[in-house]
Amino acid sequence: MKTISKPLALTAAIALSLSASAWAAAPAATTDAFTVLTLEQTPGDLDATVVAAQLEHLQVDAVTVRNVERRADRVDPLQGLADALGYHYRFVTADPAAAQQTGSVVLTRLPIEAESGTEQPSLNYLRLNDGRHVVALYTSAADAAALPTLVTRSRLGAPAVLLGAVSADAATTAGFDPSRVALEANESYFSDGFQSATSSAIKLRTHDGKKGTTAATLLTLGYAAPVGGDTPWMDTGLNADARAKALVARMTVDEKFQMLHSYFGLGKDGGPLPEGAVGSAGFVPGVPRLGIPAQQSADAGVGVTNPGGLRKGDHATAMPSGPSTASSWNPDIAFAGGATMGREAWQQRFNILLAGSVNLQRDPRNGRNFEYAGEDPLLAGVLVGESIRGVQSQHVISTMKHFALNDMETSRNFHSAEIGEQAMRESDLLAFEIAIDIGKPGSAMCSYNRINGTYGCEHDYLMNEVLKQEWKFPGFVMSDWGGVHSGSKAALAGLDQQSAGEVFDKAVYFDEPLRLAVAGGVVPQARLDDMVGRILRTMFAHGNFDLPPVHEPIDDEAGFHAAQRTVEEGSVLLRNADDLLPLGKDVQRIVIIGGHADKGVIGGGGSSMVGWTARGTNAVPGVMPTTWPGPVIFHPSSPLEALRAERPDARIDYVDGRDVAAAARAAAAADVAIVFATQWSAESVDLPHMQLPDNQDALIAGVAKANPKTVVVLETNGPVELPWLQQVPAILQAWYPGIRGGEGIAALLTGKVNPSGRLPVTWPVDVSQLPRPHVNGLGFNPKNKPDDTIDYDIEGANVGYKWFAAKGLTPQYAFGHGLSYTRFGYDNLQVVVEGQRVVASVDVRNTGKVAGADVPQLYLQLPQGSTTPIRLIGFQKVSLQPGESRRIRIEAEPKTLASFDTAAKQWKIAGGQYEVQLSRAANAPVQRVPLELAEQVVR
Ligand code: BGC
Repeated sequence: MKTISKPLALTAAIALSLSASAWAAAPAATTDAFTVLTLEQTPGDLDATVVAAQLEHLQVDAVTVRNVERRADRVDPLQGLADALGYHYRFVTADPAAAQQTGSVVLTRLPIEAESGTEQPSLNYLRLNDGRHVVALYTSAADAAALPTLVTRSRLGAPAVLLGAVSADAATTAGFDPSRVALEANESYFSDGFQSATSSAIKLRTHDGKKGTTAATLLTLGYAAPVGGDTPWMDTGLNADARAKALVARMTVDEKFQMLHSYFGLGKDGGPLPEGAVGSAGFVPGVPRLGIPAQQSADAGVGVTNPGGLRKGDHATAMPSGPSTASSWNPDIAFAGGATMGREAWQQRFNILLAGSVNLQRDPRNGRNFEYAGEDPLLAGVLVGESIRGVQSQHVISTMKHFALNDMETSRNFHSAEIGEQAMRESDLLAFEIAIDIGKPGSAMCSYNRINGTYGCEHDYLMNEVLKQEWKFPGFVMSDWGGVHSGSKAALAGLDQQSAGEVFDKAVYFDEPLRLAVAGGVVPQARLDDMVGRILRTMFAHGNFDLPPVHEPIDDEAGFHAAQRTVEEGSVLLRNADDLLPLGKDVQRIVIIGGHADKGVIGGGGSSMVGWTARGTNAVPGVMPTTWPGPVIFHPSSPLEALRAERPDARIDYVDGRDVAAAARAAAAADVAIVFATQWSAESVDLPHMQLPDNQDALIAGVAKANPKTVVVLETNGPVELPWLQQVPAILQAWYPGIRGGEGIAALLTGKVNPSGRLPVTWPVDVSQLPRPHVNGLGFNPKNKPDDTIDYDIEGANVGYKWFAAKGLTPQYAFGHGLSYTRFGYDNLQVVVEGQRVVASVDVRNTGKVAGADVPQLYLQLPQGSTTPIRLIGFQKVSLQPGESRRIRIEAEPKTLASFDTAAKQWKIAGGQYEVQLSRAANAPVQRVPLELAEQVVR
């Protein structure tokens, strides 16, 4: 809690005119207030040091500046002010992709707990945490119609302040009290949930010169005194930490231990469900005496699962796989997908979704790549972070998993991932770090495997040192199902909750064994309270107490829409020789071959499989394996039917492809043949090789020989060998495309939608190009026993394209590659550097005849002798009409410029000569700019 009295400090610091406004009633009768300073525009002569000194003295909680024009060719001076103050900087605009933007800037002293941004770009909210309270701050209300929904969804009982031009009616509809309106120069401020509110017109000194002042308004909002009587933790005006602290103080030892381990939500050995469990992965009973709700957790990252259809009547949207979302290179797509899953989880009575999978793809044979987001820490971190943010925007806690380096499934329960500290910090851990920064997941799931000899769920360095201390993670760590091997050791290393130990571990270590350890003083009482407190503060922070789930039907159409947008933006056109695609009107006879494309699209197996959807369950039952990690499921979304719907004028036939000669005959008789090739992959087992199974290579070669106009659509876990590449002019990578896969693929093949996906992974020619061409124990029934260790030091931080660059290898397709039905040109690249901010701006022009979206990518070539040769440092997706040109702005993530200094525990940019590349793919730079960077520590 703050001790400074804001009004007094204000008088001392700002000697210039301080006049009370029409709104100002008596000044706040509290020393505990939230203060916002608002400026009409950035002062032209802003001297960051002079202004920072005044704001620092005042400890203003937030500064908002309207009418800011952000220019591509310079760093915003308000950014400099934020840097000088150590405040967070947020730019809010209606069109975030444009280089030349007008919007508002918000600088905040307080940590940001949650924020919008992608849903309603011109209508932003921030939840700020001052250590005791959470305040919801709305910075602009251009879209008054959307305001009420945004307020309801984001406020969660916190006191709120709305800044910006909006009618009193709109503010009232959104829940603000119209009696608290202050009219100042035609702007309105509204507040609600505070005890008092005053507004003062002040002048702020902008530089040292004689006349350097600017008009500003200072809002001082006094917090209401805590309410809640005997149950202070139910006071929504307090922040999550304060509420959790009050609650833990009232819990008995038994109640505390009850929080520390979940039960398998599907019951033990096929027996009855635990009492109160909804029926899914995990269940922790609530404590009715204290109003603590049960924790109900469901898998996972591509939708809400319903294992075995156990929850009769429930179904969910089967979203496209992780690499599909990642291929969109579009944070909005990831957020929308996350919000869809979060909403559907909540409507099916879950308050925790086991989503947020961000392990890096180090090997295309990893059976679980379809749950992840590719090989690059920046791309994966941003996209998974946005997806987590989307889930949590629906009052559902999301995990982030599997922490860490569970990058292969083979012997996942015991293998040790061997890797040096610097390499892990700059690769897998950087992806987690960025995802945490953006998504602020409530929970992290520690992984099965060992890391340098120590189990993920006993790893003091990972859980305590890095996650909780260095990254200041306030949430709780839950174990993976079967990942716990000890009680006190795990608890002292940072594990907070054991998952389903009665089924998957040797013992429920976090019950009896941990009780003994606490009683004997091996685990301090304070640590026990910390474990319980972390779980409860997370539940408070995400609305589990205040907005408990309500069982209600999901919005199928909204889910379909989110799923289809993802397939359309996330499928990658790898090859399109002679512009065979899109299928023109002259293509009248089409044959579709194989992949069960008459019935549906394949999905990945294991705990994340969404088998029950609005369109029913498996479209192709009986494909082996039918038991764990199966069954193999085809979502009912037929590409054949969808293509027929798009092209009613054409004759479209289907042959199943089992007989290569018959398929070739059908292909010869058609204008175009489209082969659908599938590769099933699943949790708990890796793929034995990089080849398509079931004779599909021979099928494709046979068809292509019979008809040179052959298209291949791949539905795979990830990259596969393409031995027939030269005979096949067009290839579309659709990954596992989910419940609207058929419709999405048909839209892309016909050109109704222009492909805009870019590879989130490098596509190797074959396994000989990988850091570990041979790995023991891969696949079902392997010939060789798996190894005890996996040596990730071979590539270290040089995962994917970095490995290819370091070794001078040419992949089949580079990371970032993807074609379009139009072409894009880049002009006038400009790179500005201010401190550690590197900002590029460039004109992107659609030079073709159809609308489309491009993803200009910014790479950094590091100085000679650096351990990593090249890194992705930024990207931006931009949609353009034919002939349209737009100047876009890409700001580099500072950590991608730096290396991790393990001795100093700091990210450091090495001084030297770099090169910024604007590229179409990791190995396809279009423009280059030399760049000198000074040695510095990343803040
Ligand atoms: C998986 C997790 C999953 C959990 C619960 C484990 O086998 O690794 O990703 O969330 O099961 O089903």
